[in-house]
Amino acid sequence: MNKEIDLNKHWNNVYSNNLEEKLGWYETDLAPTLKLISKSGLNTSAKILNVGAGSTTLIDELLKKGYSNLIATDLSEIALKNLENRIGNEKVECIVDDLTNPTKLKKLAPVDLWVDRAVLHFFTKNQDQDTYFNLLSSKVKSNGFVLIAEFNLNGATVCSGLPVHRYSKEMLNEKLKNNFDLIESFDYTYIMPSGAERPYIYTLFKKKY
Ligand SMILES: C[S@@+](CC[C@H](N)C(=O)[O-])C[C@H]1O[C@@H](n2cnc3c(N)ncnc32)[C@H](O)[C@@H]1O
Repeated sequence: MNKEIDLNKHWNNVYSNNLEEKLGWYETDLAPTLKLISKSGLNTSAKILNVGAGSTTLIDELLKKGYSNLIATDLSEIALKNLENRIGNEKVECIVDDLTNPTKLKKLAPVDLWVDRAVLHFFTKNQDQDTYFNLLSSKVKSNGFVLIAEFNLNGATVCSGLPVHRYSKEMLNEKLKNNFDLIESFDYTYIMPSGAERPYIYTLFKKKY
């Protein structure tokens, strides 16, 4: 993969050419994410924005638990179409946008919870990371929450053929500490459908004001 790769095409191909259950991030056990959402204490009317959602099963789990104000955003329109086909498009608002060059997301009203699993680590350029964290800070309500789960420092250096920037809780705290307090963090080893291990760092932050 070189720098000129068309990332929209890349991710659309990934979601067009693979069975959902075979994707290297497909989850049947949402326990680590649900644990942190539960820790936030937000009720089921909370507005939750899942960034880089792909066709995640997290949306299914949140619907089962009664959450009704869900937004899924992703660069890949195919991923979001797959999600809508599975759960029904009236149950979740889907927004196709680029977190490193947001347009529609900039107009979105602030949310109670920002959830990112395995997206931020694809942003290897400082400028893309800055854009991501600026958007995040402006899109989370006062006293709202941020749940970020990325490859940890023992994790893989490549995912889906793309290089990744790995994180520790200290690194995430450094990025967020001006506006957010770290509430909880833990390491979690995700087992891919292939059986390979992928160590993640899970974090929950609360906005200070
Ligand atoms: C490894 S997948 C994780 C999907 C989902 N969060 C999950 O846990 O199942 C990474 C996702 O990030 C999306 N993505 C990559 N770059 C993006 C960008 N610049 N803006 C928005 N989404 C992006 C991809 O399309 C893909 O769905």
